[in-house]
Amino acid sequence: MKNKNILLLNGPNLNLLGTREVKLYGSMSLKKLIKILKCKCKILKCNLFHLQSNSESKLIDCLHQSKEKIDYIIFNPAAFTHTSIALRDAILAINIPFIEVHISNIHSREKFRSKSKFSDIANGTISGLGVEGYIIALKIALKRLQKNRKN
Ligand code: DQA
Repeated sequence: MKNKNILLLNGPNLNLLGTREVKLYGSMSLKKLIKILKCKCKILKCNLFHLQSNSESKLIDCLHQSKEKIDYIIFNPAAFTHTSIALRDAILAINIPFIEVHISNIHSREKFRSKSKFSDIANGTISGLGVEGYIIALKIALKRLQKNRKN
């Protein structure tokens, strides 16, 4: 069986992980996080593709390009979580299962953060478990792909 392709998509300001609001997002840089996830992927025999962008259009283009190439998406839309119907439509259009990840607990912060444009269409949401949430999402994604289920 061929290795599965996982896309990790990170939205605006997540390039600043490690220095940005450390109390909320922790001290690990995005570069280090990607290194750890790539290492896990090597062990778990899957391919990890990653894009972080501050631009909504780049994230949308990446989703469009994922069709037929990517088996599963791990998505932290960051601030676009709370606003972007365009990103919601893009992920619905490609019909690839995904897990929504938030490093912080979006339900214990400002009220506007507790509303997500993605939670109802995601396979599930991980929120408030720090960067470990990405590792958990990766493991679950692979488990689901092995079972060949769409949700
Ligand atoms: C975030 C939560 C969002 O509300 C925020 O805008 C982010 C990061 C998180 O990972 O906790 O940029 O998605």
